Amino acid sequence: MDLYFHRGRRLRRSSAMRALVRETTLDAGDLIQPLFVDETLPPKETKAIASMPGQFRWGEKAIIEEVKSYDGGGLGGIILFGIPKRKDALGTQGFADTGIVQRTVAAIKQAVPNMLVMTDVCCCEYTDHGHCGKLDGEHVDNDATLELLQKTAVSHAKAGADVVAPSDMMDGRVAAIRAALDDTGFAQTPILSYAVKYASGFYGPFREAADSTPSFGDRAGYQMDPANAREAMREAQADIDEGADMLMVKPGLPYLDIIRMLSESFAHPLFAYQVSGEYAMLKAAAQNGWLDENRTVVESLLSLKRAGCDGILTYYAKEFLE
Ligand code: PBG
Repeated sequence: MDLYFHRGRRLRRSSAMRALVRETTLDAGDLIQPLFVDETLPPKETKAIASMPGQFRWGEKAIIEEVKSYDGGGLGGIILFGIPKRKDALGTQGFADTGIVQRTVAAIKQAVPNMLVMTDVCCCEYTDHGHCGKLDGEHVDNDATLELLQKTAVSHAKAGADVVAPSDMMDGRVAAIRAALDDTGFAQTPILSYAVKYASGFYGPFREAADSTPSFGDRAGYQMDPANAREAMREAQADIDEGADMLMVKPGLPYLDIIRMLSESFAHPLFAYQVSGEYAMLKAAAQNGWLDENRTVVESLLSLKRAGCDGILTYYAKEFLE
């Protein structure tokens, strides 16, 4: 019988064989853990985030112990978000040299010098209105906000941040931040741009976690329309032209096509942010016994890498270490 057909099962017969032909791998070094440091908490305390089981807001001392516990595990790094005691119209605590993120970066770099520390550069956690910059009526004033972002990025670099990551989607912020860093002696500090950030419903739990829900309106005036793909190319190209060292797509799972497109179009290191809502969905289903958490988490993270990203910001990073 000379029947020829493809026998894909030959290479799936044992776990050793499957390992031999595996195309994509997942390593702790690919993963960045987002952490929230909360200035309103007593320093040694933590506060659970209800919509993100297993995630916490950390007091200023508690977060140091948490990061120490990651040491030696090979984690790619952490990214810090701050919740200040005082908020105002301009979000001035976001760029204060004595601000919560600035103090925490310095303390972490002192306690765990090898940990790669990124900082989120955005105004929304620091403004009393919850928008990502200086308001002009109901709109965020793009160019006035650039100056706030410059101050924030420089203050983070001064505190010892290894990477600054602007996440607000203002036009020109990468150029502005690059110039400000270069002018202040931080030419070596890289920028990871949230280049392609969609106005997404999947950020819901984060806004509870970081206390950054806009007091009116939404962020559709600056974040991207989920219906658009080609626009992502323009955003990424603009950020590259302005000096971004690395690019990010956010959220992750609903935008795998965008990750693939960017990875094929640009040679820059590419990251995906598996956001709070993606984490919440997996957790909730797992807690109900509806999904096998380990399998679905690994599968989701693999899908992001398979689509073409080099690293992933994910709330599952610390669990992956365990
Ligand atoms: C803005 C910022 C947001 C997230 C990261 N940086 C929220 C937003 O744009 O509303 C979302 C992250 C997540 O959902 O996990 N500083």
